[in-house]
Formats: sequence, C-alpha cells, structure tokens
Amino acid sequence: MDWGIKNRLARIIKPQTGRTVMLAVDHGYFLGPTKKLESVSRTIEPLMDYADALMLTRGILRTSVEPETSMPVVLRVSGGSSIIGEDLSNEVITTSIEDAIRLNVSAIALSIFVGSEYESQTLESLAMLVNMGQEFGIPVLAVTAVGKELSKRDSRFLSLSCRIAAEFGASFVKTYYCEDFEKVVESCPVPIVIAGGPKLETELDAFEMAYDAVNKGAVGVDMGRNIWQNNNPVAMLKAVRAVVHKNASPAEALEIFNRNKK
Ligand code: 5RP
Repeated sequence: MDWGIKNRLARIIKPQTGRTVMLAVDHGYFLGPTKKLESVSRTIEPLMDYADALMLTRGILRTSVEPETSMPVVLRVSGGSSIIGEDLSNEVITTSIEDAIRLNVSAIALSIFVGSEYESQTLESLAMLVNMGQEFGIPVLAVTAVGKELSKRDSRFLSLSCRIAAEFGASFVKTYYCEDFEKVVESCPVPIVIAGGPKLETELDAFEMAYDAVNKGAVGVDMGRNIWQNNNPVAMLKAVRAVVHKNASPAEALEIFNRNKK
C-alpha cells in the first residue's frame, strides 16, 4: 500500500488499537433532515471529542464543521437517489477527487449496490474512485448498501459484496453486522467496519452488536443513529468507544453509559 494511503488510513484506524470509532452523519444525502440530525453542527458538537473520524458529505462538512478541526474526515462522494424515489441504488459519484483533496479528507466513501439494477454502475464508480484514490494516495471506503431491502443483510450477501469491494481495491469496507459475521470477515482481505443500522430497541443491543462485531474481526464501527438518536449521545459514544478500543463487555459498556448519562 502506498505511504499516503497508509498514513491517511492510520488517521482513521488508530494504530494504538488497530480499531476505529467512526461517527456517521451522512444520512441526509438520501434521507434529508433525519431525526436528530436536523442541525448537524448541533448534533456533532458534543461528540467530537469521542469519535475517531467523521463520515459526511462535502455540503455538511463545509457548512457544519469548523475547518480548524483535527478530526479525520471520511467524505461520502456518492448519491443521486432519495428515500422517496423509486430506487435507492441509482447512485453516481457526486464529488470530484480535486474537491476531496481540497477538503483534506482522510478517505472517500461510496455505496455499492450489489445485485441491484444499478450494480454495474456503482461498481464502475468504485473502480473509478479506487483509480483516483491510488493516484492521489486517498483510501476508498466501500459501503455495501442494501437500499430498502434490509432483509438482504445476511452473511451470504454481505460476504459477496465485501469481497467484491476488496477485489476492486477498496482500502476498507463498511457493512452490516449479521449472523455468521466471522464468515464475512474471513473472506474479506481488507478491514471491515460495521454500520449500526436503524436505532435498536435498547442501548445494550447496540453494545452487543459492536462487541460481537469486533470480537469476530471487525476493526470497529461507523455508527450513526444508535449514537445520536439516543437521548444521551455522548454517554452512548463513550460506551461504544470502550467496547471498540478497550474490549469492554456489553455489560461494562452499559455501566459506562449509565454513569455518563444525564
Ligand atoms: C448510509 C450510510 C450511513 O453512514 C450508515 O448507515 C451508518 O449509519 P447508521 O449507524 O445510522 O446505520 O453509509 O448508506
């Protein structure tokens, strides 16, 4: 791997633990003003000290994050369909590599929709992004999206999607936690982070998911709704951080959450 790619990746996946807690706030690119993310700056302000990287779009980066920040940025550079449209998988590249460089990002991210009508289009975008990323030393995060078909989140589908992303040259992959998650990790030669998905019923459910994911080989999480849709987002993020970086058990994480909640 080229020095620039390694260096940028090390800003996100912390060399001290080999893990990362990314905070995803890119949801508006297809969901609009998602609940509790109506004002991104207000939502992220108290969380900035506890995340290792921020995942967001250039519009939100420029309008809602202070340029003085030392927070590594994973820039979402794909989009093109919305939650009220016909098909969420019709995504294209929305941001040039020049703009990503101008924004001094640590990685660029796009969704791939394997098995969808737009499979080839999104894989072609991945190939293009990897080529550009290689040229400028910027790692690519491929997100194995499922659109509205949440039932697709099984190890067979996710193994296929993650492996294809790695074969295309993604530096790391974001996927969902699933049963037999170790199979997904085993067959994917690049690091995997998990998305949290829609807010789970209890905090413990989220801690268990993060715990199981890292213990089965994920390098961390790229979580959104389970953090900032919680009434105590800072407590939530501190607890998930303990799971990811300190191997805290779900019960220990719950204690941390309870100690830190208001
Ligand atoms: C959407 C994304 C989101 O960043 C991702 O789903 C993570 O957020 P959450 O934990 O809320 O699922 O990539 O495609």
